[in-house]
Amino acid sequence: METARFIAQKIEEIKTIAGADKAVSALSGGVDSSTCTMLAARALGSKLKSIFIDDGLMREDEPKDVQKAFAKLGVKVDIVNAQDQFFAALKGKLDPEKKRKAFRNIFYSVLGREVKKSGARFLIQGTIKADIIETKAGVKTQHNILEQIGINTQKGFGFKVIEPLRDLFKPQVRELGRALGLPEKIFLRMPFPGPGLSCRIVGQVTPERVALVRKATRIVEEELAVLKPFQAFAVLMNDLGTGVVKGKRKFGNIIIVRSVESQDAMTAEPSPASWDVLRNVTERILKEIPAVTRVAYEVTPKPPATIEYI
Ligand code: XMP
Repeated sequence: METARFIAQKIEEIKTIAGADKAVSALSGGVDSSTCTMLAARALGSKLKSIFIDDGLMREDEPKDVQKAFAKLGVKVDIVNAQDQFFAALKGKLDPEKKRKAFRNIFYSVLGREVKKSGARFLIQGTIKADIIETKAGVKTQHNILEQIGINTQKGFGFKVIEPLRDLFKPQVRELGRALGLPEKIFLRMPFPGPGLSCRIVGQVTPERVALVRKATRIVEEELAVLKPFQAFAVLMNDLGTGVVKGKRKFGNIIIVRSVESQDAMTAEPSPASWDVLRNVTERILKEIPAVTRVAYEVTPKPPATIEYI
């Protein structure tokens, strides 16, 4: 891919498809949607409305941080608070695919509502090739795959989808993001799944459980940064484990620390973490989150495990 030519070609393509119509970009702050938003902003200027759906499943301070980062790039981002709707949709769901489907449905119904409100006819989103391959292969219900599996977005949600990154893998998207002027902290960012922290909670997704895994995620990201992993995060298990706190037995939460090396997320290896790193991250989680009594480091490759937990 010759980056400058690719950018020029995609800008033309977006202009031709959207014509004089308005479009909405659903920005999550990840590498793919950030790159896609920059491309769409170049193509459509003020005809593009960028929104960030706050689903309550994001990392700490994410909505405001993303809004600020894009303001610096000259792109205005509106935050749509839909936390209650997402928690209501996920309530009582335990099965991973049911959770994914519930997420996808509420995501697109909120998005459909916003697209309608804005008078736009198109949704521009940063689906990449690995997303399409894995969903088509039936590996998982990727949150942003619709038309490829026969879902008619025009009929179901009231908009048509434009996916300028659909033929690219992650390393190419990073290169594109850099060329479009994104700061390094965005184009080199670790991937983060569309359904957010719900992919890292086994069992019920409740605001309390999300808050717990969110805290652990920050600690894992900070302590494992030295490894420069492809992805590193915390997972909250459904089981509990016994601990001893101040001489009393306590049945507490179990956190899994997961860190992987990968090129394109299609396969992955566990990161070889030093004992110091593992001890530090464990100590911090136990100290800063008293509801946790056990921490484990995961060493399963993909396949057979997936990177996320649902
Ligand atoms: P898995 O867990 O299937 O994940 O090995 C592969 C890569 O994709 C990310 N991921 C997602 N990204 N929407 C996304 O945008 C999703 O529904 C989704 N599920 C997983 C995951 O973080 C990893 O990088």
